[in-house]
Amino acid sequence: MKSITHIFFILLVFISACNVSAQDGTIRNSADKLHKNIGVAVSNKFFTFPDNHEYKTILKSEFNILVAENAMKPSSIESVRGEFNFSKPDSLIAFAIANNMKVRGHCLVISRPISNWMDNEQMTREELFAILKEYITTVVSHYKGKIYAWDVVNEAINIKETDGYRKTIWYNVLGPQYIDSAFVWAHQADPNALLFYNDNSGETLGGKSDAIFNLVKGLKDRNIPIDGVGLQCHFKLGQTNFEEMKKNMDRIAAIGLQTQITELDISIPQSMFNEDSYKKQAEEYKQIVSLFLNDKNCTCLLFWGLTDGFSWIPKKSKNTRGKGLILSEDYSKKPAYYSILNLLQESNTK
Ligand code: XIL
Repeated sequence: MKSITHIFFILLVFISACNVSAQDGTIRNSADKLHKNIGVAVSNKFFTFPDNHEYKTILKSEFNILVAENAMKPSSIESVRGEFNFSKPDSLIAFAIANNMKVRGHCLVISRPISNWMDNEQMTREELFAILKEYITTVVSHYKGKIYAWDVVNEAINIKETDGYRKTIWYNVLGPQYIDSAFVWAHQADPNALLFYNDNSGETLGGKSDAIFNLVKGLKDRNIPIDGVGLQCHFKLGQTNFEEMKKNMDRIAAIGLQTQITELDISIPQSMFNEDSYKKQAEEYKQIVSLFLNDKNCTCLLFWGLTDGFSWIPKKSKNTRGKGLILSEDYSKKPAYYSILNLLQESNTK
């Protein structure tokens, strides 16, 4: 009898220990308590690869917000003119709702990739305006009330151009006015969704962030419905000045716009894949997450992929860089994961 009681007691301690680690030991648990949105971009493999149980389990236990890495881009939703295919994003949203997670929409207007039929500069201005309006209205209405924030226009700036605009089909045929119109149409379709301008390489101070700032200030001044700026944050280890980033975030806040960290990764050169780099990476992740936690105006932080195995960086950099995320290919937790978790847990005890 005594030994049965003993076993029972051990079992009880074990079960409660499991509960503690399941509930308290995740990024999500701390983020929820702090009312902070922390999430990841979901790979297209979410929809197709058979052995995705572990992937999905980690998504829902570690994060409270999701974005589709590619499945909600126009090339995926309207690859054929007039045929809107919502199956992938719908299943992502169903997963998010079932697990009490938010969804961020990425993105309505993008330069590349876009469907071949759309990428046609022979179209008249009127025709292309109508296509864009139909696209934005259809997609935003379909997800009305389900997508909490949209990247309305993505990467419209190129500071190497004399007028500062990236020369896309949208700009070439419609002129810069497409940006104002896109925000107006998105707002008409879902007045409650938060609307963002999203771009890269403009997180700290400099020509690109000045251009982004001027663009969004212009939108605000013209009363275009914009709520914030998405800072993509595709960083390279050792190259980000976080004090400058804070200054940039503050000037955006000063004109009444939110910021969101939308596509974070901190990649490492291939020749430096070692423990020392992972420690430095953990330190930088700590700096940016602490910036995020200390800034009420910065309302979301998303990593651009769940593990190093799902990151876009190796392909993009022709394998010269990688290992930019907080979990390894085999889902094991990197020093960056623990530095973030510790910071979140500390913030919860303050
Ligand atoms: C990238 C995806 O991660 C890749 O899988 C895809 O091949 C190309 O697009 N900025 C953006 C994202 O706004 O849409 C990009 O995503 C990464 C850079």
